[in-house]
Amino acid sequence: MKRTHTCGELTDKNTGATVTLCGWVKSRRDHGGLIFIDLEDRYGVTQLVFNPQKNPSLHKEAERLGPQFVICVSGQVIPRLAGKANPNLPTGKIEIDVQTLEILAASEPLPFDLDGDIPAQEVRLKYRYLDIRRKMMQEVLITRHKIVNSIRTFFDRHNFVEVETPFLTRSTPEGARDYLVPSRIFPGSFFALPQSPQLFKQLLMVGGLDRYFQIVRCFRDEDLRADRQPEFTQLDVEMSFIEESDILALIEAMMKEVFQNVLKKDLKTPFRRISYDEALKLYGCDKPDLRFGLTLTDVTALLSKSQFKVFQGADKRQDIIKGLTLTPKADYSRSEIDKLTEFVKGYGAAGLVTYKVQNGVLTGAVAKYIEPDIQKELIKEMGAKENSLILIVAGKPDTTNDSLAGLRLHLTAKEGYQPAEPQRSPATYGGAEEFSFCWVTDFPLFQYSAQEKQLVSAHHPFTSPQDESINAIMDKRVGATEASMIKAKAYDLALNGVEVGGGSIRINSTKLQKKVFELLGISDAEAQERFGFLLDAFKFGAPPHGGIAVGIDRLVMLLTKQENIREVIAFPKTMSSTCLLTGAPAQVDEKQLKELGIKLGL
Ligand code: AMO
Repeated sequence: MKRTHTCGELTDKNTGATVTLCGWVKSRRDHGGLIFIDLEDRYGVTQLVFNPQKNPSLHKEAERLGPQFVICVSGQVIPRLAGKANPNLPTGKIEIDVQTLEILAASEPLPFDLDGDIPAQEVRLKYRYLDIRRKMMQEVLITRHKIVNSIRTFFDRHNFVEVETPFLTRSTPEGARDYLVPSRIFPGSFFALPQSPQLFKQLLMVGGLDRYFQIVRCFRDEDLRADRQPEFTQLDVEMSFIEESDILALIEAMMKEVFQNVLKKDLKTPFRRISYDEALKLYGCDKPDLRFGLTLTDVTALLSKSQFKVFQGADKRQDIIKGLTLTPKADYSRSEIDKLTEFVKGYGAAGLVTYKVQNGVLTGAVAKYIEPDIQKELIKEMGAKENSLILIVAGKPDTTNDSLAGLRLHLTAKEGYQPAEPQRSPATYGGAEEFSFCWVTDFPLFQYSAQEKQLVSAHHPFTSPQDESINAIMDKRVGATEASMIKAKAYDLALNGVEVGGGSIRINSTKLQKKVFELLGISDAEAQERFGFLLDAFKFGAPPHGGIAVGIDRLVMLLTKQENIREVIAFPKTMSSTCLLTGAPAQVDEKQLKELGIKLGL
């Protein structure tokens, strides 16, 4: 029997037609001698009815049907009895009077009820194929398909060429560990799975392709979080003869189209832009959530003058003191404040100092240590009002910013705190927006790594410095201190506080690239060994170029309002990078290891 319709499309307009449907038995109800089956497929649910009066042997057959049996039925579309229509189903006015039944596959009892509570994560991942039978999962995967499809169409229309780049390749420096693949032909040598197609897309520009994109899998062996997977998908883009603003405009136009096509929403462009320095100052991080204000205030200069020993002399220790003002004050009890303190300590902060403003002065356990004139100034600088609650962290810049950035999100997302409007600073944006994109620009070119005791790339080593620094770098007038001030032609895209994309204008001169390698402590020999093929390519006419990569999984996660990236990936890994479905990673045969020349030293 050949399927004539899906389970989601028959209506009263089809009454009288003879149809054939295939699908899974969602439920079976035996009612007054009749058997009713809800037959389900990707498209919907259709009710089947088996009438013993009309066909006793078929009715007997239907008694064998259990949940999730796969069946094929033929029969006639008939109207449901008066009062039995289901207005919530597109097929709710009809049912199928079944005339033939074929059981295509039986099913054992399922490890969880597809219509019941969402089962534990481990169960879902072990039986992912059953999890995917759930409507929610199917909807997310279909939306993901639509988003990717819309992106592809957009780039095709704008003259971009999709090119596939190798998976078996050399290490790409994106800051994570590589997944290595041993070579059988060259024992002791390894391929690395790409952390991104970065170097290949630059080579495609040298190849004159001008506009490249790829929806591509990337592999990074890093600690996982709610928005990280070891293999994930990027929309990877590279263009020649363009400037930073062209790339930002392109991605804005693409997002606008995706939102229109998939979510039927009008996205406002251009997106807001904020420099890295400003983002750090106001939000403590480089991916600010601009759906609300609640900005940070730096009060280092003021409070370093105080006699309170937590703050005194902080500026001399190269510490910073920053805080948040809650107006209207959220009424936190002592124990709730303790919980917030524990929260910031989780980021390595020494503690959280809190003050309430009452009758124009600070109150709270440690208010008395702050001199009256400093109190007044603090209230002013923090924009606090009567009854505001001031929360302050002091310490090393990174920890202080991280903990306050975390606290800002924690207060709004987890504690339900609603910042007052209007916002205080012109650089903050109020208004509860559903999707708040922003570009973070002017990233530093380098960061100092205390671990490596060395400058490292903030983005990757092929990122161009901003024009005003190029001469200084070429003339070797740059020491470690100056280097940390250099800004890059690099930009990130944040959506609702999540980094969804990042890119840069690249260095296209071998000389400048070598200088940057020097500053990164990469010797000529090492540069030649690791990236010689790129440096060589740059000798043969490399056009000015730049690009970006957008994390597709993260984008889909945010657009479908999921809390974890796993929800938008058909077969994701667990937090410890394992696959519960296949049992990967797994041990391999001794024979395989031998062929690869590998001896395990476990
Ligand atoms: P970057 O490393 O910033 O840039 O990556 C770009 C985007 O990819 C997504 N992403 C991830 N998503 C899920 N799991 C992960 N482990 C993960 N790591 C990154 C993020 C991120 O913004 N080659 C450069 C781009 C360029 O310069 O053109 C690159 O890969 O959304």
